[in-house]
Amino acid sequence: MVFTLFLLLFLLLKTNCSTFQDCESECIFEPVKLISTNIGSFPKCAKVCSFLKIDHSSNLTHEQLTEAFKNLETLVGGLEIVNATFTDVKFLNSLTRIEANTSPVRISNNEKMIELGMVNLTTVITYNFAVSGNKEMTVLNLPKLQIVDCQLSPCKPVISMWNNNQNFCMTTEEMKVFLLNNRIEQFYVNSKVCEPAGDNMKTCKMPEVGCEELVGNLEIGPNFDTKTVNSLKIIYGSLLVRNSTLDDLSCLGNLTHIAQFGGNGTKANSPLLDYKLLVPVVKIQKDMKSIKMANLKRIVTSVWNAVNIRDENDWELENGNETCAANQYALFQKTPQNAPRSFDGLSC
Ligand SMILES: *[C@@H]1O[C@H](CO)[C@@H](O)[C@H](O)[C@H]1NC(C)=O
Ligand SMILES: *[C@@H]1O[C@H](CO)[C@@H](O)[C@H](O)[C@H]1NC(C)=O
Ligand SMILES: *[C@@H]1O[C@H](CO)[C@@H](O)[C@H](O)[C@H]1NC(C)=O
Ligand SMILES: *[C@@H]1O[C@H](CO)[C@@H](O)[C@H](O)[C@H]1NC(C)=O
Ligand SMILES: *[C@@H]1O[C@H](CO)[C@@H](O)[C@H](O)[C@H]1NC(C)=O
Ligand SMILES: *[C@@H]1O[C@H](CO)[C@@H](O)[C@H](O)[C@H]1NC(C)=O
Ligand SMILES: *[C@@H]1O[C@H](CO)[C@@H](O)[C@H](O)[C@H]1NC(C)=O
Repeated sequence: MVFTLFLLLFLLLKTNCSTFQDCESECIFEPVKLISTNIGSFPKCAKVCSFLKIDHSSNLTHEQLTEAFKNLETLVGGLEIVNATFTDVKFLNSLTRIEANTSPVRISNNEKMIELGMVNLTTVITYNFAVSGNKEMTVLNLPKLQIVDCQLSPCKPVISMWNNNQNFCMTTEEMKVFLLNNRIEQFYVNSKVCEPAGDNMKTCKMPEVGCEELVGNLEIGPNFDTKTVNSLKIIYGSLLVRNSTLDDLSCLGNLTHIAQFGGNGTKANSPLLDYKLLVPVVKIQKDMKSIKMANLKRIVTSVWNAVNIRDENDWELENGNETCAANQYALFQKTPQNAPRSFDGLSC
């Protein structure tokens, strides 16, 4: 009873301040949707409080929006751009920070949108960051993005980058914003990794001495030159070990992350998927003495059955005997951070 009262009081206070305590009254924009008849009253402040929503019926041009948002640096509230006809979101060019504590930041189902292009955006505070269903979108173009996180504790932001153009890719810099944040556990992401840009010696497409980030699968087969992976830290792709004569994976002692979002249209985390149809994120032949990787922290993926240590035939034989945890600990020397919830078809 007392607890309920407190809860009510808490909710009341929370909605009263309605996130908008952060803004001067002239910097608050109340309407639920931005439309041609109210855009004139959009505040000219650097920091605006608003649950900003723009859609098909907003009847606004890119020019009108550019003018309305030209001073906007911080948006407190939320942002939804759905079912609109713009080719990008460059009208929010000056925006550096979105604080949407209790709301999603969603840019979805915009038929003609080819990129976001919010080139000054560094920070997105939200529990759900979704860029999905934009059929023409091939890149995010968020070159300064550093932080996607939520502030209310406990919180675990959900990332959805689903159903955009089939060539949609994220840069390694954009990927790292998500995969180096351990609070992000749920990825509904179907994305390639963009071709590494020009002259960055630390990023490579084939294993090379000195390379730290590999864009592509790492296949370790017979006669593999282990020196080429000694400094490798991140694989944006799968780790596949087949027909190798190595006893262990100590050559991957610097590897911390394996990230693979190359699902191919199949729904993330769907228990209905036949695991054999998907390229696993990790697949390792079974006869090695040890498959531990000394610094491995995370395997990040939206493929349901991420890790496949045994080969398929063995899986069928040994399925009943293995435990998921045993397979996890076979790979990780350190306590895994948000390891995949499925190993060899077993749920952890
Ligand atoms: C759209 O906005 C223009 C002015 O920008 C106005 O003339 C027109 O009537 C509006 N259309 C609708 C359907 O509201
Ligand atoms: C999206 O826009 C189309 C017109 O382009 C409209 O027919 C449809 O109802 C809109 N959908 C939503 C969910 O608003
Ligand atoms: C946003 O970025 C562009 C290009 O990097 C730059 O020219 C512009 O000054 C920036 N705007 C603000 C308000 O920071
Ligand atoms: C592994 O070896 C088997 C038989 O020795 C061979 O059939 C297969 O093609 C090899 N696979 C790879 C990836 O080297
Ligand atoms: C990790 O990288 C450092 C610096 O590149 C190197 O000295 C070290 O030998 C590497 N560790 C392994 C296990 O290869
Ligand atoms: C996508 O997955 C299906 C199985 O669901 C598979 O048959 C197909 O080859 C895959 N396509 C690509 C491009 O990987
Ligand atoms: C499978 O588990 C049973 C006990 O549940 C055990 O007796 C047997 O040795 C196990 N087989 C393998 C291959 O580990």
